[in-house]
Amino acid sequence: MTDLGDADYFTNAEIAQDPYAYWEHLREQGPIVREPHYGVVAVTGYQEVHAAFKDFESFSAVNAIGGPFPPLPFTPEGDDISEQIEAHRHEFPIFEHMVVMDPPDHGKARSLLQRLLTPKRLQENEDYIWHLADRQFDEFISNGRCEFLGEYAKPFATLAIADLLGVPEQDRPEVARNLGAGNVPGSAVGALDHEPVGSNPLQYLDDLFSGYIADRRENPREDVLTGLATATYPDGSIPPVIEVVRPATFLFAAGQETVTKLLSSALQVLGDQPELQDRLRADRNLIGLFMEEALRMESPTKVDFRLARRTTTLGGVEIKAGTVLMLCLGAANRDPRKFDNPNEFRMDRKNVREHITFGRGIHTCAGAPLARVEGRVTLNRLLDRMRDIRISEDKHGAPGNRAYSYEPTFLLRGLTELHVEFTEA
Ligand code: HEM
Repeated sequence: MTDLGDADYFTNAEIAQDPYAYWEHLREQGPIVREPHYGVVAVTGYQEVHAAFKDFESFSAVNAIGGPFPPLPFTPEGDDISEQIEAHRHEFPIFEHMVVMDPPDHGKARSLLQRLLTPKRLQENEDYIWHLADRQFDEFISNGRCEFLGEYAKPFATLAIADLLGVPEQDRPEVARNLGAGNVPGSAVGALDHEPVGSNPLQYLDDLFSGYIADRRENPREDVLTGLATATYPDGSIPPVIEVVRPATFLFAAGQETVTKLLSSALQVLGDQPELQDRLRADRNLIGLFMEEALRMESPTKVDFRLARRTTTLGGVEIKAGTVLMLCLGAANRDPRKFDNPNEFRMDRKNVREHITFGRGIHTCAGAPLARVEGRVTLNRLLDRMRDIRISEDKHGAPGNRAYSYEPTFLLRGLTELHVEFTEA
């Protein structure tokens, strides 16, 4: 058993399987605590995480994804390191993507995305998602069992985004297979004749979308990609192709794995607490609340990072310019000062929608509406098409003695596999 006082959050295998005990250990020392290995300041309090997200003038998002990795490419000097951040910005991981940008560039990139995520487009996308869910269930429903991530959640999440972006139907199976998204319904394509692009999916997507956008600028059509290709910045200027492509491709990076993790943790709850299946069947209106509580209980993004650009205070604690903050979303969502009995799944808690799983402030998740639709549609179709959903005892052990395995990463929280059995409805 790991000595939590000495443990390295970033590499410890036991903490990756159960981060909650570690966060409780930190919380006992206060909501803002410096961890000993990298000098990262871990924030576990809900209020404090919220405040850090909102204060984009003090906390830069430049290291949002990598945190202390790689180490800062400069030695912070003085009480305001804004100039150092800008001079070295291009040395930070995925610096071209909006999630690590600060104003004013962030606002420009996000405005292009807003052109895409219109209520009309989201509604059309939702119509597709209902069909997609059924097609995906058709693939395995008669088997009475499935491995939910590979057979449903991964291809479903990938194809939902492909549709949102208007990837032509005939290209979708290939795109999904290249992104390692598993079993795509209705595609008669055989085994891949090359490796999936797992090591550099963003580059693969950049190339793919650069081709689409360049083509639509030359040959406009009535499609979503043409809408993207002709989007302008708020001042009317036309962005270079790559600046349109990046917000589009980032959607895959941001929305595939996170949604897969959300859907599988929701199904895990239904399997482990079968009485909830009956409650949701009796009142489908509860599905929305159920998904919010699933988001709170297992935040797919465990932690998120910020870099203090100036010396300031957070929750009454002095934070020096150059400090790496680790905002522990999974911990903030279980802060007992905010949520009563935080380790219990209770969809009737009064503040069930106040979890911080999608972040807050200028970088609040742009795909949250889509993630919620994917959750609602999946739950509805699960309940329509399956009865008596059970966690496979062969694979995960008996109730009260389950064995689940989680992705061994410090960033995301999610099952590696979820085997369920059910009766076809
Ligand atoms: C359950 C699923 C999801 C979770 C838990 C999640 C979580 C998050 C979080 C915490 C952030 C804020 C990052 C920060 O402030 O540093 C974020 C940003 C973002 N998310 Fe999501 N996300 C999910 C699904 C999606 C989906 C489906 C999409 C798109 C299709 C998406 C697109 C984005 C984008 C584009 C940003 C960057 C926004 C910005 O920088 O302004 N996300 N997400």
